[in-house]
Amino acid sequence: MINVVLCGGNGTRLWPLSRTLYPKQFNKMMGDRSLFQMTVERNNSLCDQTYIVSNEEQYFLALDHLNELEMKADKFILEPVGRNTAPAIALACFAAGEDDLVLVTPSDHVVQNQEAYNRCLETAKNLALKGHMVTFGINPNYPETGYGYIEADGQDVVSFKEKPDHLTAERYLRSGNYYWNSGMFLFKAGVFLKELRLSDEEIFQKSRLAFNDANTHYDTIRIPKEKMESIPSNSVDYAVMEHSSNVKVVSSDIGWSDLGSFEALYEQLLQDEAGNSLSDHYIQVNSSRNLVISNDRLIATIDVEDLIIVDTPDALMISRQGSSQKVKEVVNELKLRK
Ligand code: GDD
Ligand code: MG
Repeated sequence: MINVVLCGGNGTRLWPLSRTLYPKQFNKMMGDRSLFQMTVERNNSLCDQTYIVSNEEQYFLALDHLNELEMKADKFILEPVGRNTAPAIALACFAAGEDDLVLVTPSDHVVQNQEAYNRCLETAKNLALKGHMVTFGINPNYPETGYGYIEADGQDVVSFKEKPDHLTAERYLRSGNYYWNSGMFLFKAGVFLKELRLSDEEIFQKSRLAFNDANTHYDTIRIPKEKMESIPSNSVDYAVMEHSSNVKVVSSDIGWSDLGSFEALYEQLLQDEAGNSLSDHYIQVNSSRNLVISNDRLIATIDVEDLIIVDTPDALMISRQGSSQKVKEVVNELKLRK
């Protein structure tokens, strides 16, 4: 089985931790390992090979982070420009053999329960070997509009709906037949490419041309810029999953979080008795439920509660718990000033 690690994105919801040149997946926000490293390690014993699909800007970061683990990727596929996840996965599938099992994982998630994860992968593997595309479903507990929803009847996927509006998401939650899509997929490379060809012929053809024209040097496959630019940009969810009738879902109670906000990160971190995040760089006096993240500067809080404080060498962000999604307004303002 090949682990295809997607790491071309650069989320802005965790600004100032996550930057264009230093995205979330390379941040060591959970301890001594980056989310990228945790992803590679999580799948290392389950997969025989690791392919990294990334861009030039993140190539050296990814190499450094692999070096720290004393690991090497079997293939690096480098995109000169991002075209979202459908082309990224297609390129990896062209690099694999038709019958190879491909486990696609984002690089910026956490999975707290490795044993349960391993069991889910076993189940998924059996379904993928039979020629299905497999998704990993998470039981939803609020109407998130930033995820895909999987309507299920046992392991059969009845429908797949990427990023519904709020009212629709509420309806899905009430009905009880829906999972969140975790963003991980397992299938045979050939099965994915066949499905892509049926649902989006243009992405399929142009990704194939781009791959065939790639410049390959040992384990590094560089896609030419003009060929990559010609591929339409779309996510695997919209381009393939929503249209396919060959999708299965494995119910995955694995302690999953996509760490899409500081509040989600806070939930995942160890806390003291007053609910403050634990860190060597944080001292609290009569303070509660604060999330404090600092690289090396000491932060102290006195008589304050429900704050999010994120300190980096060139930016300090302070927010109330519950308001941190408004960092996108800060990011927008920053773009205007550039
Ligand atoms: N190589 C490459 N190239 N990777 C990419 C690109 C690209 O152009 N765009 C995104 N990625 C990577 C991101 O770094 C991330 O690891 C993963 O692909 C998923 O992309 P996101 O942009 O984070 O997707 P999303 O969060 O909007 O939605 C997906 O994940 C949700 C769960 O977190 C979907 O699969 C949803 O259905 C799902 O619920
Ligand atoms: Mg995401």
